[in-house]
Amino acid sequence: MKSFVIVLFVVYRLYLCESQGISAGTVFVLKGEDLHLNVTKAVVLGKLDFFSWQYNESNIVRFNSTDKKVYDNHTGRLEFPGNNYSVILKNLQEADSGEYTAVVTKLSGGETEAAKYKIKVQDRASLPLLTVSSVSRNSSSCSFTVTCSSQDSHINSTFTCDNQTCSQEGGERSEGIPDTFLQVHQSRGSIICNHSNHVSWTNTTKIIKDVCYQHVDRASLPLLTVSSVSDSSSSCSFTVTCSSQDSHINSTFTCDNQTCSQEGGERSEGIPDTFLQVHQLSGSIICNHSNHVSWTNTTKIIKDVCYQHVDPQATTILLITLGVCFAILAIIGVLWYLLKRRTSKGASIENPVNDSAQREVRDKVLLLTLPVQQDLQPIRPNNTTDNPVLNVSTSSAPVDCKRSGG
Ligand SMILES: *[C@@H]1O[C@H](CO)[C@@H](O)[C@H](O)[C@H]1NC(C)=O
Ligand SMILES: *[C@@H]1O[C@H](CO)[C@@H](O)[C@H](O)[C@H]1NC(C)=O
Ligand SMILES: *[C@@H]1O[C@H](CO)[C@@H](O)[C@H](O)[C@H]1NC(C)=O
Ligand SMILES: *[C@@H]1O[C@H](CO)[C@@H](O)[C@H](O)[C@H]1NC(C)=O
Ligand SMILES: *[C@@H]1O[C@H](CO)[C@@H](O)[C@H](O)[C@H]1NC(C)=O
Ligand SMILES: *[C@@H]1O[C@H](CO)[C@@H](O)[C@H](O)[C@H]1NC(C)=O
Ligand SMILES: *[C@@H]1O[C@H](CO)[C@@H](O)[C@H](O)[C@H]1NC(C)=O
Ligand SMILES: *[C@@H]1O[C@H](CO)[C@@H](O)[C@H](O)[C@H]1NC(C)=O
Ligand SMILES: *[C@@H]1O[C@H](CO)[C@@H](O)[C@H](O)[C@H]1NC(C)=O
Ligand SMILES: *[C@@H]1O[C@H](CO)[C@@H](O)[C@H](O)[C@H]1NC(C)=O
Ligand SMILES: *[C@@H]1O[C@H](CO)[C@@H](O)[C@H](O)[C@H]1NC(C)=O
Ligand SMILES: *[C@@H]1O[C@H](CO)[C@@H](O)[C@H](O)[C@H]1NC(C)=O
Repeated sequence: MKSFVIVLFVVYRLYLCESQGISAGTVFVLKGEDLHLNVTKAVVLGKLDFFSWQYNESNIVRFNSTDKKVYDNHTGRLEFPGNNYSVILKNLQEADSGEYTAVVTKLSGGETEAAKYKIKVQDRASLPLLTVSSVSRNSSSCSFTVTCSSQDSHINSTFTCDNQTCSQEGGERSEGIPDTFLQVHQSRGSIICNHSNHVSWTNTTKIIKDVCYQHVDRASLPLLTVSSVSDSSSSCSFTVTCSSQDSHINSTFTCDNQTCSQEGGERSEGIPDTFLQVHQLSGSIICNHSNHVSWTNTTKIIKDVCYQHVDPQATTILLITLGVCFAILAIIGVLWYLLKRRTSKGASIENPVNDSAQREVRDKVLLLTLPVQQDLQPIRPNNTTDNPVLNVSTSSAPVDCKRSGG
């Protein structure tokens, strides 16, 4: 392990110590690091004098003028960097917190405290937990409560934000276990929960926007429709409508063959914090639908819009109409021809027609062309059947024909 040496400047302040009791500041050391108990002033020991480092008043090491003795609890944990009374205590643990005192014991005049220091060993602050509750939001503000907590402590803090700033209420700083702190503040659009002690600090953050809009759905795909296209050889203009369920904007574009200019409807706010936007980019019209957590778009290529003004649907309808008319005319023509042929035959051939094929053709003509029935009407009174129209379609029809023919 890399040994990070904390240097303690142990000041020889005997008079102070004796007069007011040493109240030197506490030194905080990160767990696992080393403590360098440095002696800054030369100490000269007589033959029968001692120099001791004591921890909570019990010896950890004792020097005499020629040698040193390390006491049980610290064997293996002490290093002696120089040929003097400086000591390095390795790998500090929380249990090593306490008072370290340098004591000089003179044969001539009892004990003198060379230095005394308070050490506190701390572990790294753990990552705090930052939770959000009671989010409430309307079109102009959002407020919520956060709880910033460590194993030992927690603080609550309430924020109220408009779209620019947030105000904070309560819970700005608390001391958890001694010398450990929790703190909540906001900075650059985030809520920061800090957990710190004298040797380390760490934080958990939450982006305010995410907090405020955590329950907002994704923006739906907008609808982009085009209307009133007018195209001439030099320019094309059209109106687009960009719409979501809740809102819409209209925008009119006028394009020559190079660029388009836009009029109106560039941006709108629909339901609170939801936006529709129309713009053009590299030959396309883009309709954007966005909110604070998502965005989506629908696009149309301008060329497709402008070259569509010759409505292909209208052309198709025209073609179909023409086709149908032509077909009807053709059928009428054929029928007319057949009818003509039949009546001319009827006039020239006086003999009864026995040929069944010819009869069939006539039947069909009778079936298909009602006007023939009118020709037959004068004969109907002679006919015994009540319903001549039905007779036409039965086997008696040829009889009618013969009569009409005769
Ligand atoms: C110990 O103290 C002396 C005297 O002030 C200083 O020169 C020395 O740098 C210190 N030792 C370390 C390791 O800093
Ligand atoms: C110093 O201490 C060592 C070991 O504790 C001992 O052997 C030695 O005699 C002592 N020297 C003096 C001068 O007391
Ligand atoms: C070693 O430390 C423990 C407490 O950490 C203490 O009770 C014990 O007396 C110490 N032993 C010696 C020899 O200093
Ligand atoms: C004691 O030894 C250390 C390590 O060599 C040195 O940094 C320090 O200056 C010495 N202290 C004195 C008072 O000479
Ligand atoms: C040493 O003293 C400190 C207070 O000064 C105390 O918190 C700590 O528990 C003591 N350690 C031992 C091992 O007695
Ligand atoms: C939004 O809520 C805040 C506090 O909750 C309130 O002060 C404000 O008047 C509300 N605004 C609207 C438009 O409702
Ligand atoms: C939000 O901020 C914009 C400027 O960024 C400002 O025009 C608007 O009025 C603000 N809205 C509210 C509700 O504060
Ligand atoms: C913090 O809020 C929680 C509930 O959200 C509550 O139980 C707790 O007492 C509050 N603590 C403080 C210090 O206000
Ligand atoms: C939060 O911690 C990260 C490292 O974990 C650090 O980069 C950042 O500066 C800290 N932020 C604040 C506001 O302390
Ligand atoms: C369209 O572009 C062609 C060249 O690509 C140019 O000759 C013509 O003048 C342009 N028409 C208009 C109306 O800008
Ligand atoms: C957009 O155009 C439609 C018809 O094209 C119209 O009904 C609507 O009122 C217009 N909306 C706006 C905001 O201009
Ligand atoms: C439109 O959305 C697609 C993904 O859906 C994205 O790749 C593209 O960059 C967006 N275009 C614009 C102009 O935002």
